[in-house]
Amino acid sequence: MAQKPTLLVTRRLPDAIESRIRRGYEARFNANDRLYSREELLSLSNGADALLITVQDQLDAGLISCLPVSVQIIATLSVGFDHIDVRAAGARRIAVTNAPGVLTDATADITMLLLLGASRRATEGQELVRQGMWSDPRPTELLGWQLTGKPLGIYGMGRIGQAVAERARAFGMKIHYCNLHRLEPEVERGAVFHADAHELLAVSSFLTLHAPANRQTKHFLNAKSIALLPPGAIVVNAARGSLVDDEALIEALRKGHIAAAGLDVYEGEPNLHPGYRTLPNTFLLPHLGSATFETRTRMGMIALDNLDAHFAHRPLLTPVLM
Ligand code: DGY
Repeated sequence: MAQKPTLLVTRRLPDAIESRIRRGYEARFNANDRLYSREELLSLSNGADALLITVQDQLDAGLISCLPVSVQIIATLSVGFDHIDVRAAGARRIAVTNAPGVLTDATADITMLLLLGASRRATEGQELVRQGMWSDPRPTELLGWQLTGKPLGIYGMGRIGQAVAERARAFGMKIHYCNLHRLEPEVERGAVFHADAHELLAVSSFLTLHAPANRQTKHFLNAKSIALLPPGAIVVNAARGSLVDDEALIEALRKGHIAAAGLDVYEGEPNLHPGYRTLPNTFLLPHLGSATFETRTRMGMIALDNLDAHFAHRPLLTPVLM
């Protein structure tokens, strides 16, 4: 019988995924489910044919250049691959795959939670109830801002942006978007296209970010772009933390130019800027975008479909590279 390929799995995964891994691979699991240091990751990769990693594993050019020659393929349990230097992997002829498509609904759902949580002052409401301070309900208590009839600016209208648009329409929102290219009318479904991000910002009483993290999008939301938003805008981010200049957003939240923010992702996460925690007008989640039983299982299955294809010399399903 042919020898099973050796797979380093950097974090614990849902049972169905781990069982499938055991069947098809010589698995190296992370029994303690703790983030590996660079040194650990490199030493555990020794002799491994493949790596199954997550967004928390930073595979920069330096680390990739030190990977043992045995490593042929890296599968990431994410759609985003900004944590992997794909050029460095390409230079080493290491294939990289991601998990697009399957987390669209889960991430769009969490975006709606962020929009509602921020605009309906969920953090303050929770505090009031949890601290036993809800003693004298008043008609003017914790008034928030309704989504109905409001413009929603979507920066990045790929799969997830489009799924957010679909949900937001059901809430009566008017969709505006900025994207590298204009969508076909049947996909656009009446949404207003802005070729210029500045124009999008100017109309976005609500703004949601769905662009990938790269050099062009880094700190897209900064002091200058924030100033273009209508006063009292509500901003949410379920894409990547690096799209936001934290200092600028915190300043705008303090001054009230931005009324509230809902965030699921942070630059340098899990070490988010401490300023966010002290503000009452932030609704904060710990990168839960794809965190459902169903979605994480599907993400793992896609990763394994890719690994299986690679070792069977079939084309990869969702290659980022090669
Ligand atoms: C992704 O897939 O990029 C998500 O952010 C991970 O949860």
